Order: sequence, then structure tokens, then C-alpha cells
Amino acid sequence: MNLTQNRTRIIEVLIGILATQLIVFGLAIYMFNEPTRIVEAQGEILNVQLDDAMTLYAQNCSVCHGLAGEGIGATPALDSDALRTMDYNDLEKVIARGRFNTAMPAWSKEDGGPLSDYQISELVALIQSGDWIETQDRVVNLGLAPLIPFTTDPNPALLAEIGNLPDGATLQAAVQLFAANCVACHGADGLGTGIAPAVNDPLVREKTADELNRTVTLGSPGTLMAGWANVLTTEDINALVTLIQRWDEVPAGILPAPNVPIPVTEESLALGGQLFSQNCSRCHGPEGQGTQRAPALNVKSFLTDTSDLAIQQIVTQGVPGTAMPAWGDRMTESDIQAIVGFVRQWEPTAPEVATPTRGGGGGPPWLRNNTTTTQGTGQQSTTGQGQGQGQGQGQGQAAQTTTQPNWWEIIDWRILLLAIGALSIAFTLIFMGVESLKARARPAPTEDKSQE
Ligand code: HEC
Ligand code: HEC
Ligand code: HEC
Repeated sequence: MNLTQNRTRIIEVLIGILATQLIVFGLAIYMFNEPTRIVEAQGEILNVQLDDAMTLYAQNCSVCHGLAGEGIGATPALDSDALRTMDYNDLEKVIARGRFNTAMPAWSKEDGGPLSDYQISELVALIQSGDWIETQDRVVNLGLAPLIPFTTDPNPALLAEIGNLPDGATLQAAVQLFAANCVACHGADGLGTGIAPAVNDPLVREKTADELNRTVTLGSPGTLMAGWANVLTTEDINALVTLIQRWDEVPAGILPAPNVPIPVTEESLALGGQLFSQNCSRCHGPEGQGTQRAPALNVKSFLTDTSDLAIQQIVTQGVPGTAMPAWGDRMTESDIQAIVGFVRQWEPTAPEVATPTRGGGGGPPWLRNNTTTTQGTGQQSTTGQGQGQGQGQGQGQAAQTTTQPNWWEIIDWRILLLAIGALSIAFTLIFMGVESLKARARPAPTEDKSQE
């Protein structure tokens, strides 16, 4: 009797030990997972912030600071070690308030800019820990690559020519001011870009001098158009307003577009290929080899003689009086740039002489593009001018794998603890098993005895 009670007692104690072990074991597992979980959660938040920031950079900063933060002309680079290690609050302040007396505008809403404090903190994160290569891809995919250098040299002959107009000296000064300060956003000859409207435009010419003066002096709050009162004198601003109002007297080409290639990414090439096969191949042939309806584009002479900007212009405006439509009416600028990038990649393998197909169908042997293998990125086209959110799928995952530490790097003593825990639980279980077997085995002989 005593003996079985003892056995039960032992088993009870063992159950208690087992419960304690299980709790400790559970805690150990939790501790084991916690660091990875925290790292993952932090990594995810940072990835979302960096993703947002790349789009913000493309929409607001790339025009002055370059495709990949490398700086343009006198505008400083943002991809520098000095900024990466700069005090967080100082950096935030520069972006929020701008730099007085320079072209760097204030960006925070409090200071009349377009960005919230949170967006500014995201940009700080980008500058301090972002990936500029990815950022460059984002800028290109959104069609916001600064095509035009920050400044342009006016055409000297035409500049001299406008000196003969009434008040010609003012126009000359204004053209030079415009070349140095405004061309980056308002484009060659003031005809506009993806980020800013044309100011060489009949509707703008209709505005009063006062109205234009106010915009240039104070800016247009909540947009990229900063006020220029800190940078330009009243006289400068008056000259610019005169130019804007009299631009119809100024010959075209005085502020020429430089011949810069349109940058491409894998995504933009894929999109370009898709758009080409949907919209262009029925006339220009599936491989750009030409058909009876339209000339070849995939031919050396055309590609070497025509700059990216010229192709973009032809595609945007069409060829009046021919079957070539003006695609600017139905496609965004970034879509057209993607097509131009796609057409350009034929250049290295383009034949000297075009061999147009008759009906479409099977192409000539010099086919080499990958129109059919480049599906599935069409959504990007809708982000268009970059007003949209910027999707950037895929960017997140790529960065995530790099922030996760390898499991063996944080394992050491914790895995040891877990192993010991598991072993001790196993021993307790075995011991319990043995004890309960013994407890069951004992009563049998005593019963036997009593029967005898
Ligand atoms: C209109 C042109 C322009 C735009 C747009 C612009 N910047 Fe600047 N930025 C400048 C100039 C010019 C300077 C140099 C000011 C100076 O001389 O101190 C500058 C300086 C800076 C600096 C300080 C760099 C340093 O080395 O001290 C930071 C940071 C910066 N900009 C961030 C941004 C961010 C972020 C954006 C987008 C939200 C942006 N900028 C948009 C023109 C611009
Ligand atoms: C960083 C880009 C940027 C720069 C640099 C810039 N602008 Fe602008 N500008 C814009 C944007 C964007 C708008 C449209 C603002 C809006 O939507 O209200 C604009 C609007 C204007 C307008 C009003 C046009 C209208 O339709 O009423 C004028 C005038 C103008 N800018 C002149 C200038 C002049 C002159 C300079 C050079 C001193 C200049 N801008 C530099 C981006 C820029
Ligand atoms: C309905 C038929 C048609 C479609 C669709 C079409 N084009 Fe054209 N395209 C033409 C014709 C016709 C010409 C020649 C115009 C001329 O005589 O100068 C041309 C000329 C061009 C040129 C100038 C070629 C040169 O040698 O100067 C380019 C570039 C071009 N097209 C690109 C495109 C692109 C890109 C697309 C699709 C977005 C497209 N075209 C869609 C009919 C078409």
C-alpha cells in the first residue's frame, strides 16, 4: 500500500517537473525566435519606408540631385558618406526648411512645401540607408529620369539674334537665367517636361505680368515650383516674366534639348516591348523590320541618325499627313520613353538594309528581340507621370533577404539551452514511463500472495 502511494507520489512530482520544463522550454523557444522576429519586423517597416522614399525622390528630388543621387552640375550629391553619417535631425531640418539663398527649396508643409513630416523622415532614411541603384531604376520606371541637364547652354547665334528685338537685352538676360534655373523642369525652349508644364505656351502668355511675377517669386505651394525670391533679384524675375510673355517672338531652338540617351531598366524594356507589339507592330512589323504600311525602325541608318529625344518627339507628335498617329494623345510620356528605349536596343544588331515583311507573320532571320518573353509588367504603365503611388513590387523582397541574419549566427548558446531542455524533458518522460511500469508491475505479486 505504502509502496504504490510512494510511486504515485513520484509520478506526481515528475509531472510537476515536466510542466516546469515545458514552460522553460517554451520560453527558451520564444527567446530564440524573438531577435529574428524583431529584425524582420524592423526590416519590413524600413523596406516600406524606403520603397515610398524612392518614389518621393523620383517625383521631387531627382530633377536636381540626379537619377541616382549623384548630383547634377553644382547641385550636390545625396549619395555621399558625409550625408549617410550626418546627424538625423540636421538632415531632416535641411530637407524640411531648405537652404536659404540657394535653389534648395523647403519641403515641409509647415514651410509651404508639399511633403509631410513622415515623408521627410522617409527621405532621410533613403539618404542614410537606401539603395541608389534601386532608386535609379524607380526614377526611370516612373518616367521621371531628368532627361535634360540641370542647365543648358543657349544657342549662341539665336541668342545674338534676339538682341535685335525691342528690349532685346532683357530677353537675352532672361534666356540665360532660364537656361541656368528653369530648364531642368520646364524643358528645352520652355516647352515642358514630365514634371512641369510648358511656360512657352499661349495660355500662359495670356496671364498678367503680376500673376506670373507672383508665381515665380512665391512659388506654387504644394508643388515642385518653389519661390525664387531667395535666389533671384526682382530685376531677374521681371526679365523672366517678360520672356514668358513674349516667348512667341523668340526663335525655336534657342534652348536646345541635349542629346542624352533615355535610360532603361529591365522593367522599362519589358514594358516597351509589350507596348510596341500592341501598338506599333501592325504597321512597323513585329520586329520593327517595316511592312508595306510603314518604314522599318530596326535598321542601322535610322537608329544611328536619330537621337532618343528625336524618336520620342516623332512618336509623341506623329507625322502629320501620314498614317503615323500622334501617340502623345493616348500614351503617357513614360510609356513612350519605354518604347524608345526598346527600339534603341535593336541598334547593335540592326541590319544595314531593311527587309520589310509583306503581311506580318514569320519574320526575317535577324530577329533578336524578346517581345514575346516580356509580358506581365503592364501595370507599370498606369503609374504614368509618377503622380500615382509607385508600385515597386519586388523591391521589398529583394531588400528583405539582405536584412535577415543567418540562423546560425544567432544560434550559439540558445540552441544549446534548447537541446538540454529537450533532453531533460525526454529523460523525465522516460523516467515517468519506467516508474509507472514499476507501479503497475508491483501490485500483481501482492495480489498473488493474498490469493494463496
Ligand atoms: C530645384 C532644385 C532642387 C530640388 C528639386 C531639390 N534640391 Fe536639394 N539641394 C539643391 C541645392 C542647389 C542644394 C545645395 C544648397 C547649398 O548650396 O547648400 C541642395 C542641398 C540639399 C541637401 C544638403 C546636401 C549637403 O551636402 O549639405 C539635401 C540633404 C537635399 N538637398 C535634399 C533634397 C531632397 C530630399 C529633395 C527632394 C525632396 C531635394 N533636395 C530637392 C537643389 C534642389
Ligand atoms: C523643380 C522644378 C521647377 C523649377 C526648377 C522651376 N519650376 Fe516653374 N513650375 C514647376 C511646376 C511643377 C509648376 C506647376 C505648378 C502648379 O501646378 O501650380 C510650375 C509653374 C510655373 C509657372 C506657372 C505656369 C502657369 O501655367 O501659370 C511659371 C510662370 C513658372 N513655373 C516659371 C518658372 C521659372 C521662371 C523658373 C526658373 C526661375 C521655374 N519656373 C523653375 C516646376 C519648376
Ligand atoms: C497605322 C500605322 C502606324 C502605326 C500603328 C504606327 N506607325 Fe509609326 N509610322 C507610320 C508611317 C506611315 C510612318 C512614315 C511617316 C512618313 O512618311 O514620314 C511612320 C513613321 C514612324 C517613325 C519615323 C521613322 C522614320 O524613318 O523617320 C517612327 C520612329 C515611328 N513611326 C514609330 C512608331 C511607334 C513607336 C509606333 C507605336 C507606338 C508607331 N510608329 C505606330 C505608321 C504607323
